Amino acid sequence: MTDPEAEASNGLAAAPHGLQVLPVLGLPDFRPGDDLPGAILAAAPWIVDGDVLVVTSKAISKVEGRLVPAPSDPNARENFRRELVDAHTVRLVAQIGRTKIVENSLGLIAAAAGIDASNVRLDEIALLPEDPDASAARLGAAFLTAGRRVGVLITDTQGRAWRNGVTDVAIGAAGVQVLEDHRGGVDAFGNELVVTQVGLGDEIAAASDLVKGKLAGVPVAVVRGLDAPGIDAHGLAGDSAADTARALIRPYAEDLFRLGTDLAIEQGRREAVLLRRTIRSFTRAPVDERIVERCVGVALTAPAPHSTRPVRFVLVREHRQALLQSMLAEWEADLAGDGWTEDRIARRTARGQILHHAPEIVVPFITGNGRHTYPDERRQDAERTMFTVAGGAAVQALLVALAAEGLASAWISSTIFAPKVVRAVLDVPPDWEPLGAIGIGHPHDVLVPRAPAPTTDAFVRR
Ligand SMILES: Cc1cc2nc3c(=O)[nH]c(=O)nc-3n(C[C@H](O)[C@H](O)[C@H](O)COP(=O)(O)O)c2cc1C
Repeated sequence: MTDPEAEASNGLAAAPHGLQVLPVLGLPDFRPGDDLPGAILAAAPWIVDGDVLVVTSKAISKVEGRLVPAPSDPNARENFRRELVDAHTVRLVAQIGRTKIVENSLGLIAAAAGIDASNVRLDEIALLPEDPDASAARLGAAFLTAGRRVGVLITDTQGRAWRNGVTDVAIGAAGVQVLEDHRGGVDAFGNELVVTQVGLGDEIAAASDLVKGKLAGVPVAVVRGLDAPGIDAHGLAGDSAADTARALIRPYAEDLFRLGTDLAIEQGRREAVLLRRTIRSFTRAPVDERIVERCVGVALTAPAPHSTRPVRFVLVREHRQALLQSMLAEWEADLAGDGWTEDRIARRTARGQILHHAPEIVVPFITGNGRHTYPDERRQDAERTMFTVAGGAAVQALLVALAAEGLASAWISSTIFAPKVVRAVLDVPPDWEPLGAIGIGHPHDVLVPRAPAPTTDAFVRR
């Protein structure tokens, strides 16, 4: 036989304490200038210290006058809504068809910048509150004046990547902890919690939506049992650092999914060429030869006359010192021939030591293969130029491919001025013409794309 009373006192039969999520019923459709705290207090005089008020952002937008007049014709209204979305977009994150996921000026990433036309009059569209954290703090302060110390969350409805179905999230908060940091703690099994942060604000928002609900027209709920510290007399939160909804926004630098896949691919394509720049100093880190070979494969797809393959790339390893020494000797001889003093020659050549410090050197060549021969010099020269520019195209392709792999490069002219020496040292056929040398290494800083150049006088129409 069991004794029900004894069981209850052991806590076995009685329901344990938990949270209560209570709808605030009987609230009106709010209009600009309405007294929101007064209306909530009148409808829910039972609100007590430690409660968390969870308010739909739409209600805040309405009382704060964030309603924009819109055409009531459905098509015109939809076009106007899209214009508003564009105007409030800071960054396009993903797009499929006309659906846009964007970052808005609040830092929120949401479909259509969080601007929607639901639950407002047919000739209006609601913008999000201008500063939902501040709105939450004002509401909390108004409740404090009325003698209730409550926490406040302002919520918006969002879809989630990879998950069907929308839920409510916290976009404004005051006096309630929205992020609980368990990092550095230990779980019940003794495992160290390395990255666990709990998004309390979003959890509360989602729970409150269970009683608010879109269609029920209940814009406010009260969550009881969290014992929120609430707002103090200065409009500040009680004791928690993570009590504005901004704390829930992952910083851009920590975002592993900054862009939707399609946009990331598009941006990568657009920026690949702009990543390349001449970098004359490298880290000591070795370069993976397989990456260089892969980039050479990319470079060999560059256009070439008569569908030939006139370009060769030589990775210089064994003959590196011999190559650099013999080119230096030839350079010094040239400068001496120009009448330069030894001192001046030493200073000038010291500045040209970029290749010495490059972890890898690749020498590009054009071969004589596939060239047409002409009886006259003019056409012979033109043919030669044609193959030289094809060599240039391939080298640029190599540099861009290296940059896309995160590698730095400098295209140095030296071998062009010492072709015989280069051919002899590298033991290549007599019709191969060197097109300089490419120093390759890891950059000191991550490569970032630059802006395209102004076209001004370089793009001419005739
Ligand atoms: C054929 C060729 C030869 C070059 N030779 C040298 C060189 O000997 N030394 C050097 O420091 N840069 C050399 N450069 C790199 C240019 O100085 C560089 O491209 C230019 O300053 C523009 O900078 P960017 O490449 O970062 O756009 C060469 C570039 C080309 C295309």
